[in-house]
Amino acid sequence: MDAFIANTTLRADDFLARFPYASSFTGEQSLAFHQTLPAYKASPLHSLQSWAIRLGVSQIYLKDEAQRFGIQAFKSLGASYALHQWLTQNPTTGQVTFCTATDGNHGRAVAWAARILGHRAVVFVPQQTVQARIDNIAAQGAKESVVAGDYDLAVQTAQQAAQTNGWHLIQDTAWEGYAQIPTWIMQGYCTHFKELENTLHPVGKPTIDLVLLQAGVGSWAAAAILYYFQRYGDNRPKIVVVQSSEADGLLASAKQGQLTSSTQSGQTQMAGLNCPTPSTLAWELISDGADGLLAISDDWALEAMRQLYHQTPSLVAGESGAAGLAGLLALSQAPHLAEAHQWLGLNPQSRVLVFNTEGNTDPANFERVVSPKP
Ligand SMILES: Cc1ncc(COP(=O)(O)O)c(C=O)c1O
Repeated sequence: MDAFIANTTLRADDFLARFPYASSFTGEQSLAFHQTLPAYKASPLHSLQSWAIRLGVSQIYLKDEAQRFGIQAFKSLGASYALHQWLTQNPTTGQVTFCTATDGNHGRAVAWAARILGHRAVVFVPQQTVQARIDNIAAQGAKESVVAGDYDLAVQTAQQAAQTNGWHLIQDTAWEGYAQIPTWIMQGYCTHFKELENTLHPVGKPTIDLVLLQAGVGSWAAAAILYYFQRYGDNRPKIVVVQSSEADGLLASAKQGQLTSSTQSGQTQMAGLNCPTPSTLAWELISDGADGLLAISDDWALEAMRQLYHQTPSLVAGESGAAGLAGLLALSQAPHLAEAHQWLGLNPQSRVLVFNTEGNTDPANFERVVSPKP
């Protein structure tokens, strides 16, 4: 069931005093690193004019990560920057093995980054992972292993395997005692916010009113929060975090006022968001910095994928990739979210930013979703 929780945020000065490390979330250093990679190209920004008319706002911008580094998701930004930082701090002459757990995109990104930087990767995936996503990881030369359980179990398994085998864990979620690597990953994500400074929002004066950010463990949304507080202070846009209603750990935590895991079914096609337990780091930042948390059912994501694909020009978004736009669709069309729509102040002057965080990573399901209904 769709749900929205409005959240009270800190003033920018208080937020930045509480999280002084926000000053390293400008995206400058990560962009400088990413620009050294041969396949680097800023991802495109589209204006979705017909969507804006349909949803009654002035502008909807979509930053499209479907082709990022040829591996179809923004996760490559975080994994490559974390590996680069790790290798800078641990200079090595031989090959090392990096290890991680994933719902698909992060593992593929670690496998890709390890390969291009001359190292090895071992990737653990939950039982539900579709074969196409496992094959995408294997295609990067990584060894993959399926765990008999969910994402949380895959993370525990990767952690234990790293300890037992002397591998180096590159996980995109934080817990007590494990924060450095997820911090580097989050800093790496800031490259694509920084890219927007040349196209959409000059520093200090964002030309958007609302940004919707889809979340699994919440690291990406938290990186955006650090970026927007750091760069735009109290002029930042409103920030809404979007989760699957079947993997709603951040909403559950917001309801309880403390970090907790989702108790929902974990049955969602938004595989990249299917993480029961939020990152500790992400939760702190989201609870102090997000204006709202929204949980949506799969139907909205599938509808957004369909509409993006059948528009001109056609855009390709995976299930999790479409989730931010799907959140806006739900806010604009679901009668039970009308109050949230009003609370966020959405009106014909509003300018909204969403990210397509993933391309077609499960071709069989993509085909099913976008094919005309019989
Ligand atoms: C396509 C896609 N979008 C968004 C996310 C959310 O990122 P996070 O887990 O940092 O919340 C993921 C996570 O894997 C993803 O694969």
